[in-house]
Amino acid sequence: MRVDAYEKVTGKALYGADRVLPGMAFAALALAKVGRGRLSRVDTSAARAVPGVLLVETKFDELTGPGFVMGGGFGFQSLQPMTDDHIAYRGQPIAIVVAETPVAATEAAEAITAEYEPEPFALHLDAEGATTLVQEEAIPLPFLADIRVGDADAVIENSAVRIDSTFEHPPQHAVPMELNGGVVEWQGDTLVVHEGTQNANALRFGLAQQLGIDAANVEVRSPYVGGGFGQKNSLLVHIAPLAAVSRRLGRPVKLVLARTQTFHNGSFRPASKHRIRLGADATGKILAAVHEVDQQTSRHDLFIAMHTEVTGRLYGYSAFRGRQRLVQTDVQTPGYMRAPFESPSMFAFEQAVDELAHAVGRDPVELRLANDTETDPITGLPFSSRHVGDCLRRGAELFGWSGRNPEPGSMRAEDGSLVGWGVAIGNYPGNVAAAVATLTADTDGRVTVAVDGHEMGQGIRSTIALLVARDLGIPVTDVTVQVGDTTVGTQHLTAGSWGTATALPAVHSGLQELRKHLNVSDTGDVDVATAVAHVGHPVQVSVESLGPGQTADALAQSKVGHLAIAGPVFPGFVTFSWIAHFVEVHVEPTTCRIRVPRVVSVADCGRVASPVTAASQVRGGVIWGIGAALREETMVDDRFGGFLNSTLEEYPVMVNADVHRIDVDFIDKPDYQFNPVGVKGLGEVSMVGAAAAVANAVHHATGKRHHRLPIRIEHVI
Ligand code: MOS
Repeated sequence: MRVDAYEKVTGKALYGADRVLPGMAFAALALAKVGRGRLSRVDTSAARAVPGVLLVETKFDELTGPGFVMGGGFGFQSLQPMTDDHIAYRGQPIAIVVAETPVAATEAAEAITAEYEPEPFALHLDAEGATTLVQEEAIPLPFLADIRVGDADAVIENSAVRIDSTFEHPPQHAVPMELNGGVVEWQGDTLVVHEGTQNANALRFGLAQQLGIDAANVEVRSPYVGGGFGQKNSLLVHIAPLAAVSRRLGRPVKLVLARTQTFHNGSFRPASKHRIRLGADATGKILAAVHEVDQQTSRHDLFIAMHTEVTGRLYGYSAFRGRQRLVQTDVQTPGYMRAPFESPSMFAFEQAVDELAHAVGRDPVELRLANDTETDPITGLPFSSRHVGDCLRRGAELFGWSGRNPEPGSMRAEDGSLVGWGVAIGNYPGNVAAAVATLTADTDGRVTVAVDGHEMGQGIRSTIALLVARDLGIPVTDVTVQVGDTTVGTQHLTAGSWGTATALPAVHSGLQELRKHLNVSDTGDVDVATAVAHVGHPVQVSVESLGPGQTADALAQSKVGHLAIAGPVFPGFVTFSWIAHFVEVHVEPTTCRIRVPRVVSVADCGRVASPVTAASQVRGGVIWGIGAALREETMVDDRFGGFLNSTLEEYPVMVNADVHRIDVDFIDKPDYQFNPVGVKGLGEVSMVGAAAAVANAVHHATGKRHHRLPIRIEHVI
């Protein structure tokens, strides 16, 4: 069940830009039309002449930069547009217009013209002018360093079977249903921001920094988010200027970016290139692997690459080398997008493993099972849980894998289509954030839970409500969950699939504390109203919760808007979530159109906390994996800069007609070493390996190996 389903389907759930406030004005942005350069003149006269225009601003001297979220700051990028004349990328805002109506604001923004002194720009990994940096030299943090376990190159050199394959992954953009934007208002000296975000806390502290005001005077309300996928994980560049114009006008102001504007004013999945080398014995036992990655970043920030962290853990090799480089290009700073490193890495690595299976003539499921391990190859520590073998075995059973003819191009559907069956596994780090949970038991028997978390459609509110209802034996309708609101809690970033593993242990320990204060037993059903009546007043408890090995310092960081995350390496163990995908593709022989009639995905996410929303998460991840494999790519414009296909007409995502049967199952074995509730992450691992399984299925159908995504009709013909 989904506790907020009623609110959502009846339109009662209010998203940021749904707020309608008295006296509200409307803003629109004008964007730079040059790939890089200096802004020499902005002509706003035509904009000011549009009836209903209240304000046109091109420069905000009072704003400082938000700092880069991965460098101790709060912004998706360090660069704050409209603070100087430097244009770092096409699509960077150069003016903001406020008017009485959205139509007037948009008309005025479009009437703004500008002159530039253009500079050369680079958009591709291999473009002239792109600058390549070795990550461990550019960002000296231990978890970003090259990985060297044993002498992988030498082992590969001496292996009986060698695979050496390079794969390219294009830039992709998240296109959440809820566009970036919202409403800001000043209540006296207090700035109130209503905007969909995964990180209300960063917005609060980042805006305080940018505007030079006290964080106590910033409130961020984000009870519902219409999809985040990483793009809403930090402070976006439109919010501080919006707050500034609202303050100048003394009115609330709403701004909703057009879809095409979100392609340049939010992070995206950067382009990456992967060279995978495997060395194996004649049976396909992988002895060593090397994974070398080049990943795009912006000129002004170093967005980190963490691809080798997952591929280094996939199989039981005795030697592994991972090297990552960052390539600076003239774009806004890229960032996290669902399974940001894991999905591209697995597309590459799991195809190389498929190549190995083919080379040694071994079934791809068997080969993967033969390379399973209980020990983390990188640290030598045990995994707290790793049931990927069970995922493979159960998935093979449910899919009917034993009916596969290993010969590529050997299977046909009734309509003559080539049939391909592909498999791939995926993993995702087990992360956790420090959190605070406040539980209140009321005289009417209702329980209210306020905890760090953001509801972006993944179902965290349902997951928390279910835990409380089951623990106390009360109806789920008697539980109110408050998340995404800085006035009720810290609201640390919800991302990296740590939401459930962060909120549930905090709420679990809050429930134990609540029971003590209600003078009831440690377990069993509770008559909350009666217990509260005995106490004589509503009972409130607040608990602080840390991940394994985390210290109170993490909470102190979280309380000032910074990241407070631990994992996947903990004292004495390593935690990952696991998945296996089985995919059937049909390649129509004359048009070469690829369809995906069925998928079976089996996940190990520890205990399944909320079956309905969990299955939905996996379906969403698989659908996105199919989209990544067959459709999605953001094209860059080498003539004028920026991204070209920045609309839903031109950036094709999967729609209902593309999606057929997706069967989801779970191993559902709790991981109590990771946390007392036994839950691991699920949202992102769902997608990891799905694109690889599609690509492997296409190879099985056609005999052709695709080294670049997406795999479109023209590549199959
Ligand atoms: Mo997610 S890409 O970690 O918000």
